Amino acid sequence: MSGGRARVVACSNIALAKYWGKADEAQNLTAVPSLSLTLDALRTTTEVAVDATLQRDELILGGRAVAGRPLARAAALLERVRALSGSRLHARVTSENDFPTASGLASSASGFAALALAAARAYGAPLGPGALSAVARRGSASAARSLHGGFVELLAGAEEARQLAPETHWDVRMVVAVTTLAAKGESSTSGMLHTARTSPYYGAWLEHAPRLFEEIRAAVLARDLAALGPAMEQSALAMHASMLASRPAVIYLNAASLAALARVRALREVDGVSAWATMDAGPHVKVLASAEDAPRVRDALLAVAGVERTIVSAPGPAARVIEP
Ligand code: DP6
Repeated sequence: MSGGRARVVACSNIALAKYWGKADEAQNLTAVPSLSLTLDALRTTTEVAVDATLQRDELILGGRAVAGRPLARAAALLERVRALSGSRLHARVTSENDFPTASGLASSASGFAALALAAARAYGAPLGPGALSAVARRGSASAARSLHGGFVELLAGAEEARQLAPETHWDVRMVVAVTTLAAKGESSTSGMLHTARTSPYYGAWLEHAPRLFEEIRAAVLARDLAALGPAMEQSALAMHASMLASRPAVIYLNAASLAALARVRALREVDGVSAWATMDAGPHVKVLASAEDAPRVRDALLAVAGVERTIVSAPGPAARVIEP
């Protein structure tokens, strides 16, 4: 006997105001408020098929069956949805990303957002957008933001993310510079726990992040790139500074990241282009600019040694069911 099935698409998101650190590890509540932009060009497509013949949940990522921690995290999310729907049947999860995974391009954000929506549909759990966001957050906090389109905030200690402004609010572009990946870095989950335990700068990060969030929030609402850019860059680099002061240091930046950051600064100071950088738990550099300036920013980043390719993204929509 087979059960329900659903196929969904969720876009990834990049935080303009960063989350780094947990208020509650067991509940996966965030220690600082964050604000993200959902990205149209970075998508995960996920199918959940409930199947009474399965002895356990299965996860197929990019065509390959995976076990270990990724399967355990997906199964934990499915278990929560089963508890809400009253079902005890297992499911097969099939998921594809159209961008590099586990490299700081926030595949866990779109991945857990897609999984939460697909699982709720497949199991027939009656969850609204807020409850879905909370289920996704337990998988990965940044995933709570990917349930929504446009500009999205997740307050410190909050169960669910909410939309601050829709994707039509501001036609900006995020230019992602994909840099050479030497090795898979530390996961964001362990990186932030290690930072909280060992970095003398973690306290300063916790104190400063909410102020940057407020500045970034106001600049997004006012569509003011010149006000947003410096605060966004500071949020990313203050987060990385807190990691760099850990023992041993958590280092996601590589030589190409630093060269790309320098190029973005030169774009502003020499070429007069309003472009601003941010970085996550990986070596890629993401640059926010106007739609008009995006081609110029892309060409400049492609000329940086170690930048392999670029992805230019507009603001993206909420996660959505595509089948049945
Ligand atoms: C640097 O959401 O991946 O991308 O909740 O432990 O799964 P977990 O962490 P995750 O952390 C994202 C960190 C970040 C900044 C951000 O997206 O806000």
